Amino acid sequence: MKITVIGTGYVGLPTGVGLAELGNDVICLDIDESKINKLKNGELTIFEEGLDSLFEKHTQSGKVSFSTSFAESIPNADLVILAVGTPPHPITKEADMKYIKSAAESLAKHLNQYTVIAIKSTVPVNTGDAVENIIRRTNPTADFDVISLPEFLREGFAVQDFFNPDRIIVGANSKRAKNLIADLYLPFKDRCPILYVSRKSSETIKYASNAFLAMKIQYINEMADFCETSGADIYEVAKGMGLDSRIGAKFLVPGPGYGGFCFPKDTNAMAYMGKFNGIDLSLIETTIKSNERRKINMAKRILDMVSDIKNPTIAVLGSAFKGGTDDCRESPALQIIEIMLAHDVNIKLYDPEAMPNTKAILKDMITYCDSAYEAIGGADVLAILTDWQEFKSLDLEKIKVLMSRPQIADFRNMIDYELASQLGFEVKSIGRKI
Ligand code: UGA
Repeated sequence: MKITVIGTGYVGLPTGVGLAELGNDVICLDIDESKINKLKNGELTIFEEGLDSLFEKHTQSGKVSFSTSFAESIPNADLVILAVGTPPHPITKEADMKYIKSAAESLAKHLNQYTVIAIKSTVPVNTGDAVENIIRRTNPTADFDVISLPEFLREGFAVQDFFNPDRIIVGANSKRAKNLIADLYLPFKDRCPILYVSRKSSETIKYASNAFLAMKIQYINEMADFCETSGADIYEVAKGMGLDSRIGAKFLVPGPGYGGFCFPKDTNAMAYMGKFNGIDLSLIETTIKSNERRKINMAKRILDMVSDIKNPTIAVLGSAFKGGTDDCRESPALQIIEIMLAHDVNIKLYDPEAMPNTKAILKDMITYCDSAYEAIGGADVLAILTDWQEFKSLDLEKIKVLMSRPQIADFRNMIDYELASQLGFEVKSIGRKI
């Protein structure tokens, strides 16, 4: 199948490369010339586990190519996938449709055979109708169907998730479009459920899923707070809860709050859609508020550990919104750092992948270090804010020697807290007493 993927971000690029691996001919299209030039030169523009080898394989095999030209990329495509950004609207916080609309207008002009336009970006319910209208208005004779094909890839696991989806949701109102998608996903036929629903249901499934997952995280975070006062252990509690198949074991890992480009944006967008339609979505609104409060609480917990020191040094490990990605958008770690920076503190940071993105945001407000141990040297407290695997194997004895004061705020529960306490550290972890 000939496929054009519009947008070469965290969704578009893994999707394009993954579809090439399935045997399709893919053009990745982006209006950002500098990105496309880099990609053409064999340089990946995002960090995503396992993407580099597939990217190299398929740029060399010619199954993936890159372009900034709609005229070159659209006319021969059987399927066009819209994977452009939908940043929050500055006022409503609903997903901003400007990139989707402009991509729809641009592609419409070049449609000259039956083409399925699949919206993969997370978009408000009814966007399928809007895109269909734009294309019809721009090119009244075009032969096309617009479908919703939401993505459920997690950053850091995009390649793994692409090849091992829990389910594929297809929101298509036409049989012709359904048949094309059935062909595309033939390799997944016996691997996961493929659910065909109406376009609006599909658009809603995406938001409803992300909002539910955000709520699940905030629920376990609340239970973690409860465990800290009751003396229970949140990991035992989560395990016991998760064994109930109605609850499920996943997404019960407590932490400093959820972040990233998706959950904060999608919960806000859903809340807005509720308000706009006069619907009570108070569960989602409460989730958003409690997630915001949590970051403040986390910063306060760290500051409390050094409240007796004038101008304390805080070593922070992790600025990405989660381990396995260089993405700092809506990162709880970064927000906690920014809250702490309003106080009289020095912050020394190390993140294995997110330093360039962090520097672009925090500039010279903090000290950047080349290793965890460099950041920890001379610190009065160590705060672990991102769940990078390498933080699990930190040498606590070495840390004890390096720190000015043996204190750890481990908000990702990465270290061996029993050993840490035996070594004389004061440890604040999440959801358990020490
Ligand atoms: C999320 C969804 O998991 C994907 O299914 C979806 O496709 C994607 O959004 C999207 O809409 O594009 P992602 O943002 O990559 O994926 O990140 P997650 O792995 O879901 O983590 C989100 C946040 O929740 C992170 O800050 C993470 O640390 C936190 N989290 C996650 C927890 O605190 N506890 C958990 O148990 C799981």
